[in-house]
Amino acid sequence: MIIAQLSDPHVTVRQSEFHDLYLTIDKLQRAIDRVNAMEPRPKFAVITGDLVNEGGADEYDALSAVLATLEIPAYLGIGNHDCRETFRQKFADHAYVPKTDYIQYCWEEEGLRHVMLDTNVKGQAWGRLCEERLAWLDKTLSEKPTMPTLIFMHHPPFLTGIKPMDEMGLKDADKFGEVISRHKQVLRIFCGHLHRTISSNFYGVHAEICASTSHKVMLNLTGSERLGTVDEPADILLHLWTKDHSLVSHVCFTEEAQILWELEGYPE
Ligand SMILES: [Fe+2]
Ligand SMILES: [Fe+2]
Repeated sequence: MIIAQLSDPHVTVRQSEFHDLYLTIDKLQRAIDRVNAMEPRPKFAVITGDLVNEGGADEYDALSAVLATLEIPAYLGIGNHDCRETFRQKFADHAYVPKTDYIQYCWEEEGLRHVMLDTNVKGQAWGRLCEERLAWLDKTLSEKPTMPTLIFMHHPPFLTGIKPMDEMGLKDADKFGEVISRHKQVLRIFCGHLHRTISSNFYGVHAEICASTSHKVMLNLTGSERLGTVDEPADILLHLWTKDHSLVSHVCFTEEAQILWELEGYPE
């Protein structure tokens, strides 16, 4: 089974300054076209937040229109740029979206459990998992202690070295770590928010950030406050769940690449 993780599409409406700069609708479409054309095709997609740029109803309508072209199911999570209530209203037809409270839910496929968390704090760029959200996570993980589990969330729980982004990271990450360390079935933590592919280790669990389908954050490891965006190629992650129950993650650029050389006569 292959899981396609997309993140931070930041969809906004056309003819806006933001869209003119980043072409977010077109770039999400490119990522979706890439996923639709894949062989073998991923079983489902997960989008780890910052679905839209300003949380507007018109932006969610634009997002819905693009997502309608995705030929596999999509599980959506929210980020700091989203509006929980507008998202809930616009995606009420997605059966997994909770009718009240936080956008947290879980689902199972092929012996693998997936948990979506909601790190959104209204009006803030940083994120938090409050007591209520952590209690839900603890209870949910306690229900199936032996089923391998992936966690999806917007704000990464680890520091990346990109200072201005770390300053808008997950607050009180240790409280989340305490819950994770009680549940040994957690295999990976997959995040977004940083607009770069970055991996680390958090309380003994491999944690990885999926970049944006749109723009990348400038790589600045100097510790300064300098922050910008760059036009590096966009990518998504493909998580391959193998028959022997190992999970392998691949970076996949959304633009097609030219084949430069290929071994001839190799059987399919
Ligand atoms: Fe983002
Ligand atoms: Fe974000």
